[in-house]
Amino acid sequence: MTVELIVPAQAGRQRLVLRAWAARDAEALAAAHRDTGMRRWLMTTLDGTEAAERWIEQQARLWEGGLRYSFAVLDQDGTRPVGHVAVKRKAAGAVSAEIGYWTAAAVRGQGIAPRAVDAVTRWALGGGTGRPALTRLELLHAVGNAASCRVAVKSGFPLREELAPHPPKFPEAGHVHVREPDGDA
Ligand SMILES: CC(C)(COP(=O)(O)OP(=O)(O)OC[C@H]1O[C@@H](n2cnc3c(N)ncnc32)[C@H](O)[C@@H]1OP(=O)(O)O)[C@@H](O)C(=O)NCCC(=O)NCCS
Repeated sequence: MTVELIVPAQAGRQRLVLRAWAARDAEALAAAHRDTGMRRWLMTTLDGTEAAERWIEQQARLWEGGLRYSFAVLDQDGTRPVGHVAVKRKAAGAVSAEIGYWTAAAVRGQGIAPRAVDAVTRWALGGGTGRPALTRLELLHAVGNAASCRVAVKSGFPLREELAPHPPKFPEAGHVHVREPDGDA
């Protein structure tokens, strides 16, 4: 099933189009991953176009298996990927999941991540064929990632819990933000 989410242009903010990652996005994906901000804050980063191609193929399999829904966020023409939002489940059919995201360095500070995260959240918490129909979405980030904390708050995920550091994987304290269905998802 093909899913396309549209975030209309609003208050000087550009229209966004979200859809599953496709093979033709590999170069743009690899380019986005060259940024130091991505390498600092993401658990997984991709080195080069071939790694990006393999990652895109893997996302398609995970989507089909109901384990992960990875959306490319496209610019207003619907052509160039400028960001990413993924809903990750531990098991197919689980009603709780985690949301992750990034935007390409060149487009940061334009409110793209919060609008894209909100659109995917509404899709994931809402009912209907092909949707995960979740009852809870968690958003985790390192406390030092202030931009990510702002994205959480602006996309309707209040802070629920503080996590102690767990080195070596999580050397910094973390925040858990949570969003649940609010009736208009
Ligand atoms: C976190 C991230 C997704 C924010 O995306 P975005 O599309 O820039 O989101 P916003 O435009 O809403 O900006 C969020 C905050 O970033 C900060 N910001 C503003 N301009 C910025 C810029 N040019 N560069 C970096 N951060 C900027 C601001 O503090 C802003 O908060 P504000 O609205 O209160 O001013 C993006 O910085 C990113 O991809 N970082 C690297 C990967 C990452 O950290 N992912 C999340 C892991 S938990």
